[in-house]
Amino acid sequence: MNNLRLLLLTLSLLSVLSACTTNAKTQYTQSAKTETPEAKAAQSHIQTPIINYKERFLPVVAQHGMVVGAEKLAAEVGMEILRVGGNAVDAAVATGFALAVTYPRAGNLAGGGFMLIHLAEENRQTLIDYREIAPAAATRDMFLDEEGNVDKMREYFSLTSSGVPGTVAGLLYAQEKYGILSRAQVLAPAIALAEDGLIVSFSHYYEINARADQLRKNAEAARLFFKPDGSAYEIGETWRQPDLAWTLSEISKRGADGFYSGAVAQRITDEMKSGGGLITAADLAGYSVVERQPVRGMYKGFEVISTPPPSSGGVHIVQILSILEGYDLQAMGQGSASYVHHLAESMKLAYADRSQYLGDPDYVNVPVAALTDKAYAARQRKRISSSAATPSVEIAPGKLVGDESTDTTHYSVADRFGNVVANTYTLNFSFGSHIAVPGTGMLLNNEMGDFASKPGTANAYGLVQGDANSIEPGKRPLSSMSPTIVLHEGKPWLATGSPGGSVIISTVLQTILNAMEFDMNIATAAAAPRMHHQWLPDELKLEEGFSPDTIKLLREMGHTLDVGNRTTGRTNSIMLENGWLYGATDTRRPGGWVAGY
Ligand code: GLY
Repeated sequence: MNNLRLLLLTLSLLSVLSACTTNAKTQYTQSAKTETPEAKAAQSHIQTPIINYKERFLPVVAQHGMVVGAEKLAAEVGMEILRVGGNAVDAAVATGFALAVTYPRAGNLAGGGFMLIHLAEENRQTLIDYREIAPAAATRDMFLDEEGNVDKMREYFSLTSSGVPGTVAGLLYAQEKYGILSRAQVLAPAIALAEDGLIVSFSHYYEINARADQLRKNAEAARLFFKPDGSAYEIGETWRQPDLAWTLSEISKRGADGFYSGAVAQRITDEMKSGGGLITAADLAGYSVVERQPVRGMYKGFEVISTPPPSSGGVHIVQILSILEGYDLQAMGQGSASYVHHLAESMKLAYADRSQYLGDPDYVNVPVAALTDKAYAARQRKRISSSAATPSVEIAPGKLVGDESTDTTHYSVADRFGNVVANTYTLNFSFGSHIAVPGTGMLLNNEMGDFASKPGTANAYGLVQGDANSIEPGKRPLSSMSPTIVLHEGKPWLATGSPGGSVIISTVLQTILNAMEFDMNIATAAAAPRMHHQWLPDELKLEEGFSPDTIKLLREMGHTLDVGNRTTGRTNSIMLENGWLYGATDTRRPGGWVAGY
């Protein structure tokens, strides 16, 4: 086709399109004037680009409030709290307590986490650190056997695996300081769910059965999760948790004291004494939440706000983005070999730093400013070859082991006042230590395993960790949890986060890059295939979905690939644009839910 014909065709197409647009505009304008419900609906339709013919995945849209999480009942609890007048913090707290009932693999009372809050009225963000802490009797070598090797069973599946829980203190702190409803109101739905029971869903059935062998090893966990005859609850049957309802009621009546002292605390310490656990009444009474400044970084006009130490998440997300900012990622193309290569090389540098510098900032000096400095990123960028993978051993020494676990849970909340919450909390492994405290309905975390039990070797996520993360009494173990809020033009634009231990950082990074750099809607950003490289092992993991051409080129660059064996992360996100809320729960796991109104 010559240029003139192309021009004429383009002009005629434009005139047809413009006629269609004019007609549509006239129609909407005319009906809008009448103020009928149809007119309002038509007006909304114009402002809600729910159908975008360029995207294969569409988010759920709502206008006033939204909760996106890993489990339907708990997300609906949060949304009802929003609907009856609660703010995003009330909804986040109610969802957190509800997940302890409905999503026992990661929802919890006896775990810990991080809550990132955007406060609309004050136009500021704050981070509530309710990470577990090491008991006073913890020691640096407590998980080493006689040969000096880490005893993995003791580290992950014993009473000593458990750090002093922070979840109840963290959720109540958030609610008291930033919520507008009463404690009883935000706890009531969780108590009702535990008392009345819930209908066993496919995902609940699947999760319990996947962990049945380990859960059955603990008599109390077996009593909680299985029928008196030892069999599993079937899909469609009702599962009640009266002991958990009692624990939640104690918290509702007495606040943090209902958990950290009194009858619940007594049951925890009795269990500890029965099996060599370290947590004492003084440890529980002494637990405290820390409110911290989040980590911040700019990426091409977006402000990325995330978790500070003792999580490594925010530091490394900002650090990797600063390295990548120096490249033309759009020219490379999302998912291209060049794009994946530059992500992988930037990740290697960041995860190598993680192994050396990151730990509890109340115990070690974590150079957050230096690690997130743009000049440092520019120097790091010079270490990256655009055409060849740098072997991890040349970046820094270390050893490898392990595989990531798919624990932890994240949910995002937005309310009609403009407040936004991103909350990630965990028992560490799915179902934590798999040990339940008799008479409380609660599983204990195994977060002590997130310390470097033997500095210089790798943890359960294959992450090599240094002295900065060694075990000390009262210290918080290093985390990767990364509840993140991105601001655009100074306003919250995206809230996201993920479970997955070491892959949390790469998951959140790619999700926000897909949105910021490649203009994807949040559902498409979540669905796009992900990669992960954590320096050690020196292996580039690719989810299923990358093209054979990309895979071939990456191999030619010298990457050792692990292709299609495991999915990476599970985001629950909200995007805020033009007055609308767009929610997406990752399709990589069953049971996620977007509740909005
Ligand atoms: N336990 C996983 C994390 O804190 O990153």
